[in-house]
Order: sequence, then C-alpha cells, then structure tokens
Amino acid sequence: MPRHAGGPDVLTELRTATAVEHEQVESTLALMDPHLGRDRLVAVLTRLHAFWTAAEAGLDAWAHRHPADAETVGWARRRRAHLFAADLSALGAGPGSTEQPVLPAVEDTDQALGRLYVLEGSTLGGTFISRHLATLPTLGPGVRLGAFSPYGTETGAMWHTYRRVTRERVSAGGDAGRVVGAARSTFGALADWCAPVGAAR
Ligand code: HEM
Repeated sequence: MPRHAGGPDVLTELRTATAVEHEQVESTLALMDPHLGRDRLVAVLTRLHAFWTAAEAGLDAWAHRHPADAETVGWARRRRAHLFAADLSALGAGPGSTEQPVLPAVEDTDQALGRLYVLEGSTLGGTFISRHLATLPTLGPGVRLGAFSPYGTETGAMWHTYRRVTRERVSAGGDAGRVVGAARSTFGALADWCAPVGAAR
C-alpha cells in the first residue's frame, strides 16, 4: 500500500512542515512594509537572486539526469534567477556579489519536488508582494518588477500542475518523507541566507 494511503496528503504535510520557516522568511524580508525603501528592496533582491541561482543549479543538474521528470513538472519554464537579475537592473543595481549559499545536492525527483515546493509556492505570496511593490513611490514611475509574480494570470495553473505532479509522484511510490525533507532543508537554508537582510525591528 502506498505510504500516503490513509495518511496526510503530501501537500498538507509540506505546508505544515515548513510553516515556521515561511513565517520566518516572510517577517525577515518584510516586503509588505509600506515604507519599504529602494535600498532594502535591492538588498533583498540581491539575496534572493543568489539563492535562486544556487537552488536552480541543483535543479538543473537533476533535470539533466532525469529529463522526463523535469519535463513532467515543466522545469524549463519555472526558472526565475534571470528575473531577479532583470529586476535588479531595472532598479539600477548590479547583480551584486557572487557569493551564494551552499545547498544540499538534489539527489532524485523526490528531493527536486521538495525544493520546487519552496520556489513555486513563493509565487502565491508573490502575487500580493508584486501588487504592493507596484504602489511604492520609492520605486519611481515605470519600474515594474517581475520576479515575484513570474506567471501573472497563470499563477494558479502553474501551482496546480506542480501539486498534481507531486501528488502523482507520491501515489506512484515516491517517498513523501524525502519530498518534505528537501522542502524543509531548502526553506531553512533560505531563512538563514536571508537573515542578514532582515528588516530592523
Ligand atoms: C522568497 C520568500 C518566500 C517563499 C519561499 C515563500 C513560500 C511559500 C510557499 C511554499 C507557499 C505555499 C504554501 C502552501 O499552500 O503549501 C506560500 C504561500 C503564501 N505566501 Fe509565501 N513565500 C515567501 C514570501 C512570502 C512573503 C514575503 C509573503 C508576504 C506577503 C508571503 C505570503 C504568502 C501567502 C499569503 C501565501 C498563501 C497564498 C494562497 O494560499 O493563495 N510569502 N509561500
């Protein structure tokens, strides 16, 4: 019998297991701050750019080894590091230092889906963030940022596909524990990595 039968749904487990880290990242980044200034936004985007670059490198290596699984989840379309770079340049900032976090290797598709949970889930809150940033006078007229809401009106559809593929993987014998473990380590690494750009309390 598959591990999940009668047990909690893997998506519910993912949300519960990473709720503390989500809260931590959300309050550290404080992107909904009505007084968010350009310099702090640049610092946050620089940090997220470096994180996404490292996180995507691990997923690219996985996609190379498991092209069919990468195709199923639409990995090629989910890359986003270049959008953080574009946002930084729209704000007149360079890509920043080349320092990157050290993340665990993505060993298999279970771990890839765990990492993707964190990256893809961020597009949900990203819709609100994006809308808020568009109202900030500090950004100046005409500056539209794209990395927080990369899919626009397709956000729901992209998330739906991610969830379906992840559930199907677990039903077909994938290891939900490895999915959740990878999501936790990715989210924990993000929280640690973002701590230095945390909003002053
Ligand atoms: C890069 C940083 C962030 C990451 C990695 C992240 C990650 C996630 C994940 C994985 C989910 C999906 C939860 C689930 O349903 O299983 C989510 C949802 C959500 N996040 Fe974040 N998040 C980030 C930043 C933020 C920030 C700064 C806010 C503050 C506005 C926020 C607000 C939300 C909200 C409101 C949802 C639920 C949206 C919905 O259910 O429609 N997130 N986020």
